Amino acid sequence: MTDSRRRLIQAAREVRLNAHAPFSRFLVGAALETADGRVVTGCNVESATYGLTICAERVAAFKAISEAVRGRFVRVAVVADTQDPTPPCGACRQVLWELCGDVEILLANLEDEKAVHRLRDLLPYPFDARLLTEK
Ligand code: THU
Repeated sequence: MTDSRRRLIQAAREVRLNAHAPFSRFLVGAALETADGRVVTGCNVESATYGLTICAERVAAFKAISEAVRGRFVRVAVVADTQDPTPPCGACRQVLWELCGDVEILLANLEDEKAVHRLRDLLPYPFDARLLTEK
């Protein structure tokens, strides 16, 4: 585990504590890292409607765009308090693919157990903007 990966997991672990999750009590933190070392974090924010809840990964991705943190993204760390590290949901896989590309997905729980995946393996055969411009 490199220092930058360790730091990214630590950033996700810290922002997780900001989660607004009064309904599920399931706190999640995410941290995105760019090729030039910038880090953007996000936590899940729940709504009393339930359906308007947004996951930590999408908050981080949308914050990055909103803060004009563009360029190449290299990895995303996700931290939750689960026995097996928590992977991003389907909606987050789609949004991460479109906004961040084929990033490394680094998963960790609070016991420091980790797993590493490529986004393309978690979202095979994706729909994206290329299909809108074909033909
Ligand atoms: N959640 C995330 O923030 N990220 C994930 O990868 C999985 C689920 C949130 C959404 C909701 O607030 C809570 O976890 C329970 O699903």
